[in-house]
Amino acid sequence: MNSILIEIDGRAVHAQPGQSLLQAAAAAGLDLPHLCASTRAGFAPIGACRTCLVEVEGAPDLVPACRHQVAPGLRARTDTPRALKVRRLAVELLASEMSAEAVARHRDSPFLELVARTGADPERFGRRAASRAPDASHPGILLDPDACIRCGKCRMGCRDVQVNGVIALAGRGSELHVAFDAGAVMGESRCASCGECAQVCPTGALAPKALLEAGGRSAVTAEGETVCPFCSVGCRV
Ligand code: SF4
Ligand code: FES
Repeated sequence: MNSILIEIDGRAVHAQPGQSLLQAAAAAGLDLPHLCASTRAGFAPIGACRTCLVEVEGAPDLVPACRHQVAPGLRARTDTPRALKVRRLAVELLASEMSAEAVARHRDSPFLELVARTGADPERFGRRAASRAPDASHPGILLDPDACIRCGKCRMGCRDVQVNGVIALAGRGSELHVAFDAGAVMGESRCASCGECAQVCPTGALAPKALLEAGGRSAVTAEGETVCPFCSVGCRV
């Protein structure tokens, strides 16, 4: 397939037709900030978090790199003052979904790494979401709702990648929250224990109990790394 020549931050990048700007950048070894997007097969970009916004020549507004398809001659900049400022703001708004205690609990999560990378102040907007009790009903995965930024990535992984469709975002406004089977606790839902949600969650709000108890990373994000609480073979059925 003929590649498409584009430019990112002044660097020539050979992209493939149909790739998003984020995918093309990743394939070229460029680490663009992002949060709700994933390179996992079957994971459609939802464009929810706005942490991947970049400037594209000719476009009046910033565009989400995860949803913007490459085209011949496309020129993007990730490092303009406007892009840096708006991405930092997006991260600060997301951080306002977490409690200060949850921020402290999940310092090693990809989201808190993004907070540090963007220079965002996680306290800037205070706390917007209502507090909820943890759901420890599942034998292998813990839901820590106060660490949830309501990005919807777990729902996409559960529905589109694993085709389980157990997770939803229920409620409105400050009451919006992750729900299983529309109201069941996780351990009593149709959850197939594939671990996809804990693998993709960027904050550690959904995380393997074994890792948390071992004081390890609050979220697992490496491709192919298993989080199955039962056999740990990593079959990823
Ligand atoms: Fe996003 Fe994690 Fe909350 Fe799911 S549990 S909406 S992946 S932060
Ligand atoms: Fe692009 Fe979230 S990664 S909007």
